[in-house]
Amino acid sequence: MKRSIADHAARFSEIAEEYDEAQDSDEYAACASMVVEAADPRPEETVLDLGTGTGAIALALAPAAGRVIGRDISEGMLAEARRKAEAAGHGNVEFGEGRFREPNVPEDADVDVVVSNFAMHHLADDEKREAIDAIAAIDPRRFVLGDVMLSAAIPEGEEQYAPEVDDPATVGVLVEALTDAGFVVSDATLVGDQYGVLVADR
Ligand SMILES: C[S@@+](CC[C@H](N)C(=O)[O-])C[C@H]1O[C@@H](n2cnc3c(N)ncnc32)[C@H](O)[C@@H]1O
Repeated sequence: MKRSIADHAARFSEIAEEYDEAQDSDEYAACASMVVEAADPRPEETVLDLGTGTGAIALALAPAAGRVIGRDISEGMLAEARRKAEAAGHGNVEFGEGRFREPNVPEDADVDVVVSNFAMHHLADDEKREAIDAIAAIDPRRFVLGDVMLSAAIPEGEEQYAPEVDDPATVGVLVEALTDAGFVVSDATLVGDQYGVLVADR
């Protein structure tokens, strides 16, 4: 099942122009709005959005934050994000290449809040752990993760995600990785049995 970063990047670049319209599920809307609400940046703070895609979360946070940095592996998705930022007139948002385990944070940025929505499940569980360690190394005061995450094993055929490209972790695996990386999980909201939002503080 495992796909390379290049495979994921190419797949998302192909669908970039239609991506926003396709995000019409209740679960996506619920997780996205909870991530934005929990991120709650102060006006002087810097937010890093990993797996930013077309910038849904980054752009929603731009009016509240001082600076927003969106990182993704797909040039097509990043191009859509930049187009939307320009159309909205958000001068404090920048989008560029970066991946979970190498987020490519600008040298002059001091990141306060890291967010990620519907993206980390593309990594295998050991890679998610490495990604969480890389996020901890950035030393944010808060990390908000919205994603496909399983409250229990899902029987074959009942997955709401695509098992051929998606590799969601259980909530337990994510909470353990966050705790091992020095975060305190202050809130966990499950959306059905296959999605959720975790709020992790330092
Ligand atoms: C389903 S989209 C979610 C986009 C956005 N966060 C949202 O809420 O609409 C997943 C995104 O994760 C990106 N992605 C996949 N693997 C990644 C990785 N290892 N590092 C950074 N981004 C990745 C994809 O290119 C894609 O844009």
